[in-house]
Amino acid sequence: MTRIFSGVKPTGHLTLGNYLGAVRQWAEVDQHRADALFSVVDLHALTVDHDPGRVRRLSKQAATLLLASGLDPEACTVFVQSHVDEHARLSYLLECVATDGEMRRMIQYKEKSARERERGGSVRLSLLTYPVLMAADILAYGADEVPVGDDQTQHVELSRDLAVRFNQRYGRTFVVPRATPPAVAARVMDLQDPASKMGKSHDSGAGIVYLLDEPDVVRKKILRAVTDSGTEVEYDREAKPGVSNLLEILAACAGGNPEGLSGVYESYGALKRATAEAVVELLAPLQKRHKELVADPAYVEEVLRRGAERAREMAKPTVDAAYRAIGLLPPT
Ligand code: AMP
Ligand code: TRP
Repeated sequence: MTRIFSGVKPTGHLTLGNYLGAVRQWAEVDQHRADALFSVVDLHALTVDHDPGRVRRLSKQAATLLLASGLDPEACTVFVQSHVDEHARLSYLLECVATDGEMRRMIQYKEKSARERERGGSVRLSLLTYPVLMAADILAYGADEVPVGDDQTQHVELSRDLAVRFNQRYGRTFVVPRATPPAVAARVMDLQDPASKMGKSHDSGAGIVYLLDEPDVVRKKILRAVTDSGTEVEYDREAKPGVSNLLEILAACAGGNPEGLSGVYESYGALKRATAEAVVELLAPLQKRHKELVADPAYVEEVLRRGAERAREMAKPTVDAAYRAIGLLPPT
């Protein structure tokens, strides 16, 4: 059976981008067709300035939202990364296979470290090595497929390279994974700045729809979305990034495709209204379920406990095999 692994970082509240680009596909498709694991990858939240209490709260919230989005603990494994030691154990071995040069070529590292330096801050070493930990997340479980948004494909490529290199040097140990981005909405853009990704850790919330935003907040954000010059509703990512982003969101929420939908709306205003309603409708059941789950924290904790147990069992044999293959003496 195909094995799937994916994760979400608890660095901020989950956004519409996370949902359309990743989580929805996990819930609607992936968990039903494969042996799937989904993780709140909390170790990855420590690569930038963070507040310990906030990371804890966001981790619990992210796990709750994954379940509210429809991940079914009977159908897949949901767990918190730091509850399973194998991730960090394997990450170190992969650091011994990765090179300094290939880490520095990662686009996300270049962008995030430049931003940090501009602010006069220091760059944590873990920001550089983070894609290796991500590779460990994937390779520990022998995942064949990694359903992620566009921004993560370079990191999955690195995981492939590391798996192939390790296997060539030390004998076949890892499955070589591949990224499986969604057909639409692989990259939802910020409503106030359609040139950049809708990211949960961005400073201003005005262009970001959070999954737990109240319906009126969602409407306000979408109605105030930045659009483009001209008046015609056209799907053209280059010339009309704002309008195209709305068309993609609408298509992802309500069905259809962005090109086809562009002929339907007479004005930017009409497109915004339709998009706002489609998003509100999409989020309503998820928000309702989230409220129920928040009222039952013991259930969520139990799901995470069982998830970690299962994940540990799955990862340990592969990580142990990697320790042997690379030349470490087995304990007696
Ligand atoms: P992160 O928020 O970086 O932990 O991302 C969790 C998942 O959501 C990853 O698979 C990302 O690729 C995906 N994702 C995050 N932001 C967006 C976005 N704006 N559009 C599409 N997918 C996204
Ligand atoms: N790096 C991913 C992100 O920022 C999150 C992540 C960590 C991940 N480990 C993973 C995604 C393993 C898929 C598989 O979105």
